[in-house]
Amino acid sequence: MNYDTVIRNGTLITPEGAVRADLGISGERIAAIGQELTGARVIDAAGKLVIPGGVDSHVHLEMPAGAARSSDDWVTGTVAAACGGTTTVLDFVEPEPPRGPSSLRDALAARRAEADGRAVIDYGLHMTLLDAEPETLAEIPQIVAAGCPSFKAYMTYSFKLTDDVLVAAMAAVAQVGGMVMIHAENDAGIAYLRRKLLAEGHTEPRYHPVSRPASTEAEAVERALALAEVAGCPVYIVHISTARGAFAVAAARGRGQTAYGETCPQYLLLTDDAYARSGFEGAKFVCSPPLRTAEDNAVLWALLAADDVQTVGTDHCPFFYEQAHSPATGGKDLGRVDGAYPPFTQIPGGMPGIESRLALLYAYGVREGRMSVERWVDACCAAPARAFGLAPRKGLLAVDSDADVVIFDPEREGVISRQGDDPDALCLHENCDYTPYEGFRVHGWPALTMLRGRVIAEDGEYVGGAGGGQFLAGEPSRG
Ligand code: URP
Ligand code: ZN
Ligand code: ZN
Repeated sequence: MNYDTVIRNGTLITPEGAVRADLGISGERIAAIGQELTGARVIDAAGKLVIPGGVDSHVHLEMPAGAARSSDDWVTGTVAAACGGTTTVLDFVEPEPPRGPSSLRDALAARRAEADGRAVIDYGLHMTLLDAEPETLAEIPQIVAAGCPSFKAYMTYSFKLTDDVLVAAMAAVAQVGGMVMIHAENDAGIAYLRRKLLAEGHTEPRYHPVSRPASTEAEAVERALALAEVAGCPVYIVHISTARGAFAVAAARGRGQTAYGETCPQYLLLTDDAYARSGFEGAKFVCSPPLRTAEDNAVLWALLAADDVQTVGTDHCPFFYEQAHSPATGGKDLGRVDGAYPPFTQIPGGMPGIESRLALLYAYGVREGRMSVERWVDACCAAPARAFGLAPRKGLLAVDSDADVVIFDPEREGVISRQGDDPDALCLHENCDYTPYEGFRVHGWPALTMLRGRVIAEDGEYVGGAGGGQFLAGEPSRG
């Protein structure tokens, strides 16, 4: 049998473990895993790891945030993802008031219209719930049928769901085999601390983490888990930043609850020391929940390695540091008046990270002995695909899966940098004027990314042409 493409001599990281084998691709699918395969095109992967394309289940492309908008759009963000070895992203539909009888469906159609023809990798969407009005709940089955079985709810921000609304939404989602994703922070505690800090004149970015202590996450995670248990709804806690939050999810899973925990590279690798940087620099790290302590980092690594935290998403939500560099989207200093920086409460929350996830997790996870290579692939590719009903099509190297393949060079060394002229600087494609990982040395970087059998990135550059990404319909969970 002659395949369209054969990737030869690599070490494949499959669900069964690492194997030295060839990978045969026909059309858009993986057709064979075996020895001495022949193909019209042969790619030599000697000395390289061959892994499934990354699945980043938490990104915010061109997301409105007050007067600002996250600076990576569906084109630039997915190009950056492809260069970093990610071939599937899951973003969000954020319906806006006023609500109408088909507001969720209209919002889904509008979000798809933004992405279709522009995304260069495959994408799926989570639906954000802003209420549990009867007409909203009535739409949920149609949204699931349209390929969005996951529903996001916030327990903080102005568009938070209160507990009574949240539990009703969870029950409705559970009825049709869906899952609820929760941004878990205690809103009342945060509101109190923000008011208090501002009244005391504490406006600098370093007060951002003070206003959102670990207890606010831990309490909300516990409450979300309890409400999901009451409603009988699978629950996925996004961007867990604290040991306490992660332990709560692990304990719920231990009791048999269908619960998933996601953390992000920033909660594994960065600490709240970043907020103490001089001037307004700490604003670069303003995200919610905030960065935590080195102890939290260590616990999250350990729980991730043990599959007690299941996935690593990026929560990619970039804003330029200086609006002057991106007048169209705004920036972290949007509220600057006469040179005076805005208080931390007005800084748009979020940071870039879509491109460096696989490499950071490999360098600081696998290379530093914190996790196995198999667990790296599971957390970054297979586990998110399973959680959101995209497996076995996405997230693994198996016959009949999409030929989303990354040839990862474990020996490629470089420095993540957007500043200076470091000769080892790795080129980042994220549309932002900084990276929170400035100066991080990585050992391992994608050499080639393939989407459904087509090479879309090679040697650090995007080569895939325009808009080849497809919408992915997620399957509702089977429990
Ligand atoms: O601060 C953050 N994380 N911004 C992105 C939106 C969210 O809450 O996930
Ligand atoms: Zn969030
Ligand atoms: Zn987010």
